Amino acid sequence: LRVLVAASEVVGFAKTGGLADVAGALPAALARRGNTASVVMPFYNAVKRSGHPIERTGIVLPVPMGDRVLACRVYRSFLPNTSVPVFLIEHAPYFERDDPKTGRGLYQEQGWGGKQDYGDNGVRFVFFCRAVMELVPHIGFAPDVIHANDWQTGLIPAYLAETYRNNPGYQRIRSTFTVHNIAYQGSYPRELMNYTGLPGWLYNPNQLEHYGFNFLKSGIVFADAVNTVSPTYAREIQTGEFGYGLEGLLTNLHWKLSGIVNGCDYEHWNPAHDKHIAARYTPENVFENKPLCKADLQRRFNLPEEPTTPVLGMVARLVGQKGIDITLSAAQGFLDLGCQIVVLGDGDQIYHDQLQALRDKNPNRVGIYLGFNETLAHVVEAGSDLFLMPSRYEPCGLNQMYSLKYGTPPVVRATGGLADTVVNATEENLADQRATGFSFNEYTAHALYETVRWALVLYRQRPDDFRQVVRTAMVQDWSWDRSAEAYERLYRKISGIG
Ligand code: ADP
Ligand code: GLC
Repeated sequence: LRVLVAASEVVGFAKTGGLADVAGALPAALARRGNTASVVMPFYNAVKRSGHPIERTGIVLPVPMGDRVLACRVYRSFLPNTSVPVFLIEHAPYFERDDPKTGRGLYQEQGWGGKQDYGDNGVRFVFFCRAVMELVPHIGFAPDVIHANDWQTGLIPAYLAETYRNNPGYQRIRSTFTVHNIAYQGSYPRELMNYTGLPGWLYNPNQLEHYGFNFLKSGIVFADAVNTVSPTYAREIQTGEFGYGLEGLLTNLHWKLSGIVNGCDYEHWNPAHDKHIAARYTPENVFENKPLCKADLQRRFNLPEEPTTPVLGMVARLVGQKGIDITLSAAQGFLDLGCQIVVLGDGDQIYHDQLQALRDKNPNRVGIYLGFNETLAHVVEAGSDLFLMPSRYEPCGLNQMYSLKYGTPPVVRATGGLADTVVNATEENLADQRATGFSFNEYTAHALYETVRWALVLYRQRPDDFRQVVRTAMVQDWSWDRSAEAYERLYRKISGIG
């Protein structure tokens, strides 16, 4: 199979969340399995700073934007240790921006009272989608499938189905659209359509209209196959609680909707050879070496180095999705249970402020780092005793998969991919040696607190059981290979390749 993967972020080049991990790891896994893959993303300043060798290609694309045609130079790099090209779409006014605070500048800038989306995100990603279409003849192979991801690439399936439909170079290309998060839809005033070149009659409630001109809906309506990143989330988004208004559409289109759990990149996330952590470990020596990682974590977050104090760790974008509110409400309870709490995160100002206040009140019990830091993400995964991920919703979630591998049992709310990847430590699952973490259903601070309390019963009073959970978690295999295989099946189905 020949696949072009389009995404607005790719790990190692520019990243705000799990989408980047997927956009980097899936194409690499596809290539390892004998397919031809390429990636395309915007050429942000962050990419320039990433340290990857970048070459000019000489390709200049004419990108129509309304009644103007913009010129777009294309650069190229490669996914590390692969021959998978990463095509970089340059347009300085749109992509070469910096957020002085985070240094990233992908979608947001620091405004009054907190971060806010760039005012021209709609135009930026119309441009990106159109540039991807124009890039197709230059990537060195004729793709069977273009795999678009999230709202930023949602116009690509519409372009294939409409604007480029009669163009012989595009007629055989099928499209897959992956919804990584249905809450972010990219909806803009109808006037934005003037830039797209898409026919105006597509603006109707059955096609591109949903609270304005909606990129995500475009991807869902026009792609040959739509998937989300776990089977449970694929079911959930067909309901009013999770669908953000698109549940009816998705229910109607369920025939082309599926769920494929993301993989975990064990090259980057493996305590056996992780350079970011204080000591490396495997299931064989986890109980000797993990304590060294815990001491290192406590040191780095200015907490007393207490080997027997349970450390609850969290790494997340600090947004409503991630359950920070119930974590903050339960925090005093965790402290009363004798825990230390460590949070690494970046996001909404209100959570920054509340976390800061919690730390100021409990400087010896709470450690925080409010920003984006790859190394610390590894340090928290390895050094914590329990990993908190009490999400309100979670399409897949990668952090819980990392924490499984690092022998840090996750405490999760049983939603989306969390429900599909974590086996709750009930007495029955413990007896069967199947348990890999702790989960609860109700989205309340109380349910979260009770679940941590139960985990600590095992941690303190039933160490054999706790250790069994750690070992079982560590040997789970969520490698990319099987996710890539599932994507191959999907690509074959839509492109009719046997
Ligand atoms: P989401 O994509 O919704 O943010 P995931 O669990 O799928 O959630 O992926 C989050 C990814 O982003 C993980 O690789 C995680 O380590 C990383 N991450 C999130 N916040 C930070 C941060 N503040 N610093 C470093 N890495 C982070
Ligand atoms: C989104 C989701 C997350 C998922 C990631 C990668 O950001 O919030 O659950 O793991 O995409 O698919």
